[in-house]
Amino acid sequence: MSGIIVRRFAERDTADVAAIFAHESVVEMTAQIPHRGPEFWGGFYRARDPDAVELVAEVDDRAVGHLGILTNRAPRRKHVASFGIGVHPDFQGRGVGKALIAELVNLADNWLNLLRVELSVASDNARAIALYEKFGFVVEGEARFDIFTAGSYASSLQMARLHPRHASQLGLDHVAVPTSGPAGISSSGMSSKDA
Ligand SMILES: CC(C)(COP(=O)(O)OP(=O)(O)OC[C@H]1O[C@@H](n2cnc3c(N)ncnc32)[C@H](O)[C@@H]1OP(=O)(O)O)[C@@H](O)C(=O)NCCC(=O)NCCS
Repeated sequence: MSGIIVRRFAERDTADVAAIFAHESVVEMTAQIPHRGPEFWGGFYRARDPDAVELVAEVDDRAVGHLGILTNRAPRRKHVASFGIGVHPDFQGRGVGKALIAELVNLADNWLNLLRVELSVASDNARAIALYEKFGFVVEGEARFDIFTAGSYASSLQMARLHPRHASQLGLDHVAVPTSGPAGISSSGMSSKDA
C-alpha cells in the first residue's frame, strides 16, 4: 500500500491509537487488556520511559499503526531496547507493520545506538513472527504459559535482533544476520516525517 507516512506520535493521534487497541484481535496478541481508552494511550509510553520513542503510521491523515520503543536506563543495559506494535485490523496485511519496523530498525541501528532490540510475541502470532524475521529478529526461546489470553494460559516466543555491524565483534559472523529490512520499503511510497 502506498501513502504510508511514519512519523512521531502526537497528541492528536491519541484517539486513533486507542481505536487500534479497542479491537480484541489486537489486544489478544499484545500484553494489553480490553477497555483502555485515550487517557491511557496518551501517556502509555512516556509514563514508563521519558526517553521512549513513539511512532505512528499515518494513512489519509489517520494513525492506523502504532509502535513504541522502550529504552533502558540501567547503565549496563542501555544498549538494549524493547518495543510494542499494533496495526488497526482494517489496515493489517497492507505493509503498515513493515513500514513501522523498518523505521524501528533505522532508529536502532543509526540513531539510538542499540546493540539489541528484543520483544515477546505470542507463539501463535504467525504474522508478527514472519514480519520480525524479515528484519533479522531471531527466536531465542519460549516462555511457557507466561501470559493469560482470552481465558487461557498461552506461551510467548522471546525474539531479538542484534545490530548487524557488530556481528563479527560478537563472534556471530557465522550467523546470517540480515543487514537491513526487505528491499523496496523506502521506495514503496513510504516516507518519514516528524509531527
Ligand atoms: C503483527 C502486525 C503488527 C503486522 O502488521 P501488518 O501491517 O499486518 O503487517 P504487514 O502488512 O506489514 O506484513 C508484514 C509481513 O508479515 C507477513 N504476513 C502478513 N500477513 C501474514 C499472514 N496472514 N500470515 C503470516 N504472515 C503474514 C508477511 O511476511 C509480510 O511481509 P510481505 O508482505 O513482504 O510478505 C499487525 O498484524 C498487528 O497489529 N496484529 C495485531 C497485534 C499484534 O500482533 N502485535 C504484535 C505483538 S508482538
